[in-house]
Amino acid sequence: MAEVIQSKLVWAVYLLHLLLLISIHGSTSDSISSEGFCAVNSGSDCGLPSPYTKILIKGGTVVNAHHKEVADVYIEDGVILSVRPNIRVPDENIRVIDATGKYVMPGGIDPHTHLDMEFMGTATIDDFFTGHAAALAGGTTMHIDFVIPINGNLTAGFEAYKHKASKAAMDYGFHMAITKWDEDVSKDMGVMVRDHGINSFKFFMAYKGTLMVNDDLLLEGLKKCKSLGALPMVHAENGDAVVEGQNRMIDLGITGPEGHALSRPPVLEAEATARAIRLAAFINTPLYVVHVMSTDAMEEIAKAKKAGQRVVGEPVVSGLVLDDSWLWHPDFTTASKYVMSPPIRELGHGQALRAALSTGTLQLVGTDHCTFNSTQKAFGLDDFRKIPNGVNGLEERMHVLWDAMVETGKINVMDYVRITSTECARIFNIYPKKGAILEGSDADVIILNPNASFEVSATSHHSRSDTNVYEGRTGKGKVEVTVSRGRVVWENDVLNVMPGSGKYIKMPPFSYLFDGIDKSNAAYLSSLRAPVKRSSAAS
Ligand code: URP
Ligand code: ZN
Ligand code: ZN
Repeated sequence: MAEVIQSKLVWAVYLLHLLLLISIHGSTSDSISSEGFCAVNSGSDCGLPSPYTKILIKGGTVVNAHHKEVADVYIEDGVILSVRPNIRVPDENIRVIDATGKYVMPGGIDPHTHLDMEFMGTATIDDFFTGHAAALAGGTTMHIDFVIPINGNLTAGFEAYKHKASKAAMDYGFHMAITKWDEDVSKDMGVMVRDHGINSFKFFMAYKGTLMVNDDLLLEGLKKCKSLGALPMVHAENGDAVVEGQNRMIDLGITGPEGHALSRPPVLEAEATARAIRLAAFINTPLYVVHVMSTDAMEEIAKAKKAGQRVVGEPVVSGLVLDDSWLWHPDFTTASKYVMSPPIRELGHGQALRAALSTGTLQLVGTDHCTFNSTQKAFGLDDFRKIPNGVNGLEERMHVLWDAMVETGKINVMDYVRITSTECARIFNIYPKKGAILEGSDADVIILNPNASFEVSATSHHSRSDTNVYEGRTGKGKVEVTVSRGRVVWENDVLNVMPGSGKYIKMPPFSYLFDGIDKSNAAYLSSLRAPVKRSSAAS
């Protein structure tokens, strides 16, 4: 068990933090205390930061994406200083944690979340504090959220999200959606990359009338992304056909949540996935397909990868382990909580997606955490088109994936680190600062006990939502300790987090996915055998 060495100095630092915390709570987080949020599972130390800036994790199996070994990990001031067996540090102000028999791994990085997002006439119920609390309790220490421009304006959107994120309790980065096209948008994409650390832009091929872009815009966006070294991402569904499918269901008198799945079948996801892949090939740029939900879409990605194209496929936890039978549940509250887009598919798709994840066809796992409570979901009581789309997952991702992928023998523990953390850090160009337990890496670390078990319930989760799509799920493997930015923030089922303590992580352009693109461009140009020099027309 953990050994705690206390000293007067440590407690002086602790008291200083306490004073700071009281002032932060007083100024920015009234809603947190007034809603009794911290009372959930948090004990009397609710919100107090750990006093220790030096941590020694002893005797665990340290896991990186390509290697594992029994070793100690020494952390000081938010950075991993040493990883080797039998570290001895002659300093009494150190928190020592015994990890014997457990895995010491990089904290999870979730590449796909929507905190505090205005969407479908309402806003997601988890913000940058409650979402972070949920994430940290589940072993995720960084996420990348999607900035939504305001009336198409990127700068206004960025400023708004900077403000939303001022209550962050862990590190975060931003992708940015592109929802319209003009000279200003094109110019501002460059500003976002150069000045604001955004290296990915998302194009929604669905949500007609709000976020959706057409092929013309998508092509402009792909070209611009390529020139900036930024990764284009797509929500791949044919938005025009989705509207046709929705109208068909309403005409048939199908107005409940099952109409959601029926109106946007896998073929619409596969069509848009194939189209985006082909347009990316035409432009010769890498592409990232978010929330791959169907076998059909996954097979388009597999085909492109087999042909040598750089396409990243991201499944989400809901698509991997749930099936659409819930949408037919007779209770509306139960059924509606599973409404997300693309829809959770029929039994069989999840199994195929898990297999593709285990072989590398799909590369990393997100959540698309986009939570609405049952009151918000009830906006669509009489019309499934009005049910806000989105499910939870930030707190559950690491546990559910361990249980579904490692416990079943589909992947090993190093693969687990790769798909939950390292691959995300590499794709978004922040490796090895994030995504690794290496000397010099940020001290975002989890300790997972493979012999303990987890259980999911809306009564004990840290999301603000009153429902959970993984309700009642149990499994092996539990994150017992989370260290975020060098502080123990989750331990003994108690969360010690501080609003405002999370930092924005800038992500530079030109990740490894862009290596060699200039050479393939040159090969393309020399393959054209054009323009052909012709003698002037015969007189
Ligand atoms: O249903 C979903 N996925 N909601 C979030 C927005 C999106 O499409 O990613
Ligand atoms: Zn989407
Ligand atoms: Zn999303």
